[in-house]
Amino acid sequence: MFPARFGTLLATGLLLGAPAIAQQAGPPLGLVPLPRAVQTSAGTYALPQQVSVYAAGPAAQNVAELLKGFLAPLGKTVALTTNRQAAQIRLLPAAAGASGGPEAYQLVVDKSGVSITAAGGAGLFYGTQTLLQLLPAKAAAAARVPYVRIADAPAFGWRGGMLDVSRHFFPVSFVKKYIDFLAAYKLNTFHWHLTDDQGWRIEIKKYPKLTQVSAFRKQTLIGAQQTFKTPADFKYDGTPTGGFYTQDQVREVVAYAQKRYVTIVPEIEMPGHSVAVLAAYPELACKPGPYETWTMWGVIDDIVCPTEPTFKFFEDVLTEVCGLFPGPYVHIGGDEAPKTRWKESAAVQEIMKKEGYTDVEKVQGWFNRRIEAFLAGKGKKMVGWDEILEGGIDNKATVMSWRGEKGGIEAAQHGNDVVMTPAGYLYLDAGQNPRPHSPDEPLMISGYLPLEKVYGYNPLPKELTPAQQKHVLGPQANLWTEYITTPAKAEYMLFPRLLAVAEVAWTPAAQKNYAAFLPRMGQQFAYLDAHNINYRVPEPVGLDSLSMRQQGGQAVFTLRSLVPGARIHYTLDGHMPDETTELYTKPLAVPQGARLRVRAVTIAPNGRKSPPAELLVR
Ligand code: ACM
Repeated sequence: MFPARFGTLLATGLLLGAPAIAQQAGPPLGLVPLPRAVQTSAGTYALPQQVSVYAAGPAAQNVAELLKGFLAPLGKTVALTTNRQAAQIRLLPAAAGASGGPEAYQLVVDKSGVSITAAGGAGLFYGTQTLLQLLPAKAAAAARVPYVRIADAPAFGWRGGMLDVSRHFFPVSFVKKYIDFLAAYKLNTFHWHLTDDQGWRIEIKKYPKLTQVSAFRKQTLIGAQQTFKTPADFKYDGTPTGGFYTQDQVREVVAYAQKRYVTIVPEIEMPGHSVAVLAAYPELACKPGPYETWTMWGVIDDIVCPTEPTFKFFEDVLTEVCGLFPGPYVHIGGDEAPKTRWKESAAVQEIMKKEGYTDVEKVQGWFNRRIEAFLAGKGKKMVGWDEILEGGIDNKATVMSWRGEKGGIEAAQHGNDVVMTPAGYLYLDAGQNPRPHSPDEPLMISGYLPLEKVYGYNPLPKELTPAQQKHVLGPQANLWTEYITTPAKAEYMLFPRLLAVAEVAWTPAAQKNYAAFLPRMGQQFAYLDAHNINYRVPEPVGLDSLSMRQQGGQAVFTLRSLVPGARIHYTLDGHMPDETTELYTKPLAVPQGARLRVRAVTIAPNGRKSPPAELLVR
């Protein structure tokens, strides 16, 4: 399911002797993530309105079926044909001896049409995603594909995106859309954060109160929690909220993801982030309840007690979860589990005595190992946040490094597989505005994570030897949803940064280049518009002191927009620019010493406006 990383270019022969990336005249092809090897040549192939597709074998037929849906918005119909010669698009099994694994593909466009060759369905699927990026984003009179030869394979086998559906519940329709986002950009792992203090989101037949009680909370904190001094200052909306996925819906999502070569990693949090469980089943706590599903954010002392009824509960839950999710991994959380209640618990003291522990953290390791053995009995591998290291792990657990890279480095050195998801680089709930809590942004958690920082992340820490680096399965972006209340807001936080994540995950670090990424990324906005994705329109680039030139007592700024066809409007008096304020047409020269607040916005071709870039010029 998760092929090993590729150390070498595809040994397909297709591009032997060619430079890794051929130079091409004219604008870049706009491909994200950047393929390993691209050769363009003069000419284009016109895809007709009625496209015939030759699909050899069941995987190719699955991809051909999906292609019908992908090409429909372009006004094209797809019919399968058994006549390979007559087909405009050919989905072909890789020739015997081809290497690169099931996710690698070759895409050739020439006067005979489009050929995608791959050893597996995933590779054929990724070839079609690349093809779609070569076509216009929406129905156009002429759908011409440039002649090109592409050989491509991912840098990492785990290319993940997490969605927290506990803090806010997202409908199945958006979960599928999120999977579409991942698949379109060649990410292959959907980490579904299904349970947390604020809501349990998966139907478990044996424990009906999980969906009757734990799936709902009576109200939600209003505003940014971090801006209040004490809980006494908190205000709540007084509105009950919640929701859950039925097992039928889970099966529907699993099938949807499978067709798109996305593996789902379900997360069932334990022993922390579990007060919603205690709201329904208080007997699993160390202290008598009652408890309620949490209505604020953060870390709560009330966690499950590591007693036999708790093991029975989670084993029953995991039995149903393992039956629903065919992927090899199950995530058990393990993060942010305060030991306050465990320290006070006679039952925990008893365990410590029996196991010879003096450190209560070791009890969590003991708990995890028992759950891990249970999962192994179901043929599943356990994943946990990096706190699982603190209780002691064997070398089979997969560690998700979120508190920086330290846990990931330690785990890889210990011989454990690792997924890199350091909060400072890959937590996409952090803001995209350099001004903290800018009034120009929607409410969000603190932190600043610009596109460039995401793009620059290298999942292979240099502290690791090449042998240890092999334990790094890949990177993953996480979207926590304390303040992300709607699909539109999720899209605002995801895009365009998810495009940078895609390249971190797919493209070898040596081929990455931020300046070259930006125009390729720019070409994706048309696709995001065509799919009605509420991306954050990036503010103009260049309004900063580093980009300033001084000329004759003036500060001169050369601005540009990352969105093709966008216009930049500005003001010099601190007012919010819009369509009615000055249009930027040439480098902006402002007198120095005048203390002017310069603000500039991008207005995208779709009419949407960016937050302002701004600078106080002294
Ligand atoms: C986490 O962000 N608590 C894994």
